[in-house]
Amino acid sequence: MVRIAGILLVALFLGPAIGEAKERSAPSGREVFLEECARCHGADRAGGGPDAPFFSPAPRDLTTGFLAKYDEEELLARLRDGTPLSLSVDEEGRRTRAKRVESLLAHMRRIPDIDWTEVDAGGVIYGARCEVCHGQFGKPWPAADLPEGVSPPKDLRDPSVQRSMTDRELMAAFKHGTGGMPAVPPKLTEGEAEQLLAFVRVLSPGFETFSFYCAPCHGDAGRGGGILVRGEEGPTVVFDETYFEEKDPDALRATVWHMMDVGGGGMPHFRGVVADERLRAVVEYLKRTP
Ligand code: HEC
Ligand code: HEC
Ligand code: HEC
Repeated sequence: MVRIAGILLVALFLGPAIGEAKERSAPSGREVFLEECARCHGADRAGGGPDAPFFSPAPRDLTTGFLAKYDEEELLARLRDGTPLSLSVDEEGRRTRAKRVESLLAHMRRIPDIDWTEVDAGGVIYGARCEVCHGQFGKPWPAADLPEGVSPPKDLRDPSVQRSMTDRELMAAFKHGTGGMPAVPPKLTEGEAEQLLAFVRVLSPGFETFSFYCAPCHGDAGRGGGILVRGEEGPTVVFDETYFEEKDPDALRATVWHMMDVGGGGMPHFRGVVADERLRAVVEYLKRTP
């Protein structure tokens, strides 16, 4: 289930990149905006398009007047190549993204040590028996979406929650329940509890991000062959111990940051996807129309 959700999202983000650059003469800026931008920024430009919920930080509200601080060339470079705008427009958003990149890196460095056969088996049990309360990746559903009478459990992705429980305590909780959590029959076998433990120990914000945005190509185990590239040419890189030993940490951080921008979670860039004159038209439209 983890992987299916990932594919849908990635397909969504990569959708336009896969298409050919569209060519048309004398495009109207508003038309281009509706075609290329509105799914995230909303037809009214206020940031609430249908795809907006997938982004953190959210697509910007383009009606607040901040665009006036930039000239057209600067905005064009942002849209075409992803060149950051010179003035920091969203310090909060940048910090959120930096945090996501760090949690992603922390998860990636764990990948070589994880027994993915156990984890995958545990993930199946988790999906069937735990997800209804604990959420897809360990973050409990909002109180209103929990089964009746269940009060929200702690976030299992939280490293401090992970540290607060020993493996033995976790296994006991899975098999016998806790004060506030029933042990749902049928009883788990020792082997199933071990698989579940392997899965629960992988839960982290970085695992969630990787599952959504990266595993569809790189695979859960970081060896390629993700479901989005199955049978086709996918990444050849293998995220094993040797990779992390040899890769310069700063270069790795920069790549992951870029991959987050391109693959999901952030504003894409449009080089090769939307023709320059169409981007220019949209910039003019945004600057001209208050
Ligand atoms: C797939 C979703 C998506 C699409 C499509 C999209 N944006 Fe964005 N946009 C975002 C997100 C998310 C942000 C928030 C900025 C960030 O990345 O931190 C953003 C931010 C911006 C910003 C603020 C500058 C910046 O870098 O943060 C501008 C300007 C902008 N978008 C214009 C556009 C225009 C024009 C289009 C169409 C050509 C477009 N966007 C298409 C998601 C999108
Ligand atoms: C009916 C909802 C529900 C289901 C199903 C459920 N849990 Fe829980 N779980 C809870 C609640 C509520 C707590 C908080 C328990 C407490 O306060 O004693 C909890 C606590 C936990 C804890 C301890 C963390 C903490 O909050 O102290 C772990 C670990 C855990 N659950 C794992 C699982 C696993 C693994 C499964 C699947 C086998 C599962 N849970 C199924 C509701 C559920
Ligand atoms: C659409 C498929 C796709 C998605 C999604 C994707 N990647 Fe990649 N990634 C690739 C390809 C292709 C390469 C090129 C290198 C190769 O062939 O192995 C690559 C390269 C990389 C590299 C550099 C490897 C090196 O040469 O050192 C890193 C690191 C990386 N990706 C991380 C990520 C992360 C993190 C995410 C999720 C945010 C992600 N990728 C999402 C396909 C993808």
